[in-house]
Amino acid sequence: MKAYDLALEVLTALSEAKEADGMIKVVNAHVSGISYLNLGDYGLEFLEDLAASGEKVRVPTSSNPCGMDRELWREQGISEDFASKQLRVNSALEKLGVSPTYSCTFPYEGKWSANLRPGDHVAWAESSAVVYGNSVLGIRSNREGGPSALFSGLTGLTPNYGMHLNENRKPTVLIKVEQPIPKGPLEWGLLGKKIGELGELARVPYIDGIGRVATKGELKALSAALATFGPTDMFLARNISPEAPSQPPKVEVVTVDGRELEEESRSALDRAISGGTPRAFFLGCPQYGVEELVYLARLFSEVKKVKGDIFVYTSSHVLSDQAGFRAAESLKEKGVKIFRDTCPVFSPAPAFSGGVMTDSVKSSFYLPQSKRVKATLEPTVVSFMLAIGELEGA
Ligand code: F3S
Repeated sequence: MKAYDLALEVLTALSEAKEADGMIKVVNAHVSGISYLNLGDYGLEFLEDLAASGEKVRVPTSSNPCGMDRELWREQGISEDFASKQLRVNSALEKLGVSPTYSCTFPYEGKWSANLRPGDHVAWAESSAVVYGNSVLGIRSNREGGPSALFSGLTGLTPNYGMHLNENRKPTVLIKVEQPIPKGPLEWGLLGKKIGELGELARVPYIDGIGRVATKGELKALSAALATFGPTDMFLARNISPEAPSQPPKVEVVTVDGRELEEESRSALDRAISGGTPRAFFLGCPQYGVEELVYLARLFSEVKKVKGDIFVYTSSHVLSDQAGFRAAESLKEKGVKIFRDTCPVFSPAPAFSGGVMTDSVKSSFYLPQSKRVKATLEPTVVSFMLAIGELEGA
């Protein structure tokens, strides 16, 4: 069967199952689940069969991180067998016309995002990007699966239901964040976790009291945590979301005490200082963008050589930016390991048996499942203490 025909058949079945209002055109698509770790041999052969049809995507289609750094995979401890299969996955995707972006942030940080306008329909399969895009850019995407996003790329279509419809983008709960407002990716991630855990009530939370425009890194952390811990595909906040009503909506109210987020973050720091912490720090989930790399390089500006193991995950589009490249080079000179186009969770790279530290609430949830390793949550500043040898570690 031709790739286009198969894609249309599956999307039509999905449309019927979801009782969608027909099909709509998408501006672009983003495919996830492309690590050979997720796909296995069956997934690899399926992609190679599709690619053998000679057909290509009809709208720009980008790809999520793959299972390894394509240059430094030996340094990551990846086996030859895995590497050769991952390269076959990548090659099949590229034959289908999928752009080799290998980034979970490309949909909203990459060069195509400059052309997106609020109201544009897309088909993205990376959940953190879906929340960020719906909430901050005002685009419209459901949380697609890897195959359905690829089929949308091949057809340029998606079923018209869920987040594509106005009625599903209205606030379902009012979250009042009491002072102090969160700061740093860990506290914003903890806020996302608390909201996500409200379940169905938090389908579209209106977050009030944030009080200022958060940094991109903080919004990424919030989006990733919301998508990890609940059904949320979109939040609304004044000064952040194009669709946020100017007045708080009259819906059920849930209060989050900013001091609790601060205390959780501080107790993580105390735990780290009191010792017994693992040696390795994983940063970059979602993958670090330019802003976060520059922040880290500044934090480490006085460090001569890193003493602990600090791994930073980012992507090629970030390193093609001059500021991002310079920040990454300065971190590398100090011994920070920078991996690109892959991620800490969906790579078979061995983790540290004593466990790892991370500032990502999403990573702390998935790492114990994917790598069977303990992941403790620490604020980014702990990575600095690890770097200067303040933490001896386990
Ligand atoms: Fe991105 Fe991997 Fe985290 S895809 S959001 S770095 S789990």
